[in-house]
Formats: sequence, C-alpha cells, structure tokens
Amino acid sequence: MSANGLPTAVTTRGVTKTFGRGDNAVRALKGVDFEARCGEMIMIVGPSGCGKTTFLSVICGTMKADAGSVDVFGTDLIHLSGGRLTDFRGRNVGFIFQQFNLIPTWNILENASIPLLLQGQSRKEAQDAAAKLLTEVGLGQRLDAHPRQLSGGQQQRVAIARALVHEPRLLICDEPTASLDAATGHKVLELLKASACREDRCVIVVTHDSRIFSFADRIAEMEDGVVKGVHNSGEYRAQYV
Ligand SMILES: Nc1ncnc2c1ncn2[C@@H]1O[C@H](COP(=O)(O)OP(=O)(O)OP(=O)(O)O)[C@@H](O)[C@H]1O
Ligand SMILES: [Mg+2]
Repeated sequence: MSANGLPTAVTTRGVTKTFGRGDNAVRALKGVDFEARCGEMIMIVGPSGCGKTTFLSVICGTMKADAGSVDVFGTDLIHLSGGRLTDFRGRNVGFIFQQFNLIPTWNILENASIPLLLQGQSRKEAQDAAAKLLTEVGLGQRLDAHPRQLSGGQQQRVAIARALVHEPRLLICDEPTASLDAATGHKVLELLKASACREDRCVIVVTHDSRIFSFADRIAEMEDGVVKGVHNSGEYRAQYV
C-alpha cells in the first residue's frame, strides 16, 4: 500500500544495469529505488544519458536488470520467464517509445490495432477501437495513411493511440510530447492523464518538457543512474519561477 492509500503500481529496489564490459562498460543504472502509485501520473526528469530510457525498459520488462527487484502490480518481473513475461506485458503495459516504432508498410489504423490483435481480438473489434482513439488524437481523417506520409508529430500521435488502445493498467511514455506543438501536446497529456486517473492504473512519463509538468502528480529526478529525489509537482515547479 502506498502513501495515497492506493496500491503501489510499480516498486523497484536497487536496480542496476551495465552495458558492455571492461574499459567499455557503461553503468547506466546504479541502484534505482522508485515507486509509482495506482491512480497517479508520475514524471521522471533528468539530464540526457542519466538512464531514463534504460530504466523504462527495465520496468516494462523489455530489458533485464543485472540486479535488484522490479514489482509491477504485484508481479515480480525479474523472475518471470520469456513467454509469461511477454503475456504479462501484452495485457498490462502500453508504451510510447522515444522512437515511434511504427510498422512502415501498415497504415495507421492497422498500426494502432496491434495490441488488440495480439490479444486475439477480431480485426473489426481492434480496428473500431483504434479508429476511435486515432480520432481522439486528431487523425480520424487519415486512417489510410502510412507512417511515412505523416509528420513526426502525427506519427507520435499514432504511437499514443496504439499505446492506449488495449487500455493498459501501466502506461509508459518516453518523451511523448517531444515532437508535438504546445496545443497538441496539451491534448495528448489530457488523454494520458485521463487514463491514469483510475484507481487500478498508473502512467509514467519521461520528459524534458517543462510545459507539461503541471499534469504530473509527482516528479522523480534521476541523475547519473539513480533516482535522487521525488517531489510533488507544485513543489517542483516552484523551483522554476
Ligand atoms: N544498448 C546500449 N549499449 C551501450 N550503452 C547504452 C545502451 N543503451 C544506453 N546506453 C548508455 O546508457 C546510458 C543511459 O542511456 P539512456 O538511453 O537510458 O539515457 P536517457 O536518460 O534516456 O537519455 P536521453 O534523455 O538522451 O534519452 C548512456 O550513457 C547510454 O549511452
Ligand atoms: Mg532516453
């Protein structure tokens, strides 16, 4: 149980990750202790290279930590095996990557349907849900377009629709507003925030964009491979005025 009286969504203790060996070794994570609560949007900020993307990969189970513990909704990800980990991720986690990772030969409706198809839903059900979300992010007129026919910001919005389409309990976003103008970024954050504001859900957002800090419930500061502090967002923003 966390401090807001709701269950904890994600808890990590002492997470470490080193890339490479010997003289080329990069210690990306040096013992990350972190907690995200159900019902909140928590942002992670910190300088380029401090380990944010690596940490997100560990908590969504796409990368194994070298040591430490990672608990997501009561499931220990470190000890979950290949197939069960993939299944857990498919059902519970949505991600928006720093690179959008769209399939170039599929149109955006097909791209946004992927998580539901992977869960075994029919093509029609998946595409109906995807069309609804693509419309919400302002791409309802472009369902037939392929990613290369869209701007960076439009591709980002397809990635956002794909991340939300299966209503994941944990949504993980790496710089979701990096290629969006202020007004579109605002709309997208409203959509993400609405997804977090349910007692069994949680949204974790890595960002450099101070314009969106006001959407956060709490802000965790990373530096050099560790989380060095967690603030409520009003307290954190006060440092900037
Ligand atoms: N696959 C990899 N192989 C080797 N080193 C890596 C790999 N991925 C990340 N690193 C290194 O780990 C460190 C942390 O990288 P990471 O991508 O997590 O940083 P970040 O905080 O997300 O930075 P940014 O804000 O620029 O996206 C960096 O020094 C990076 O060069
Ligand atoms: Mg990164």
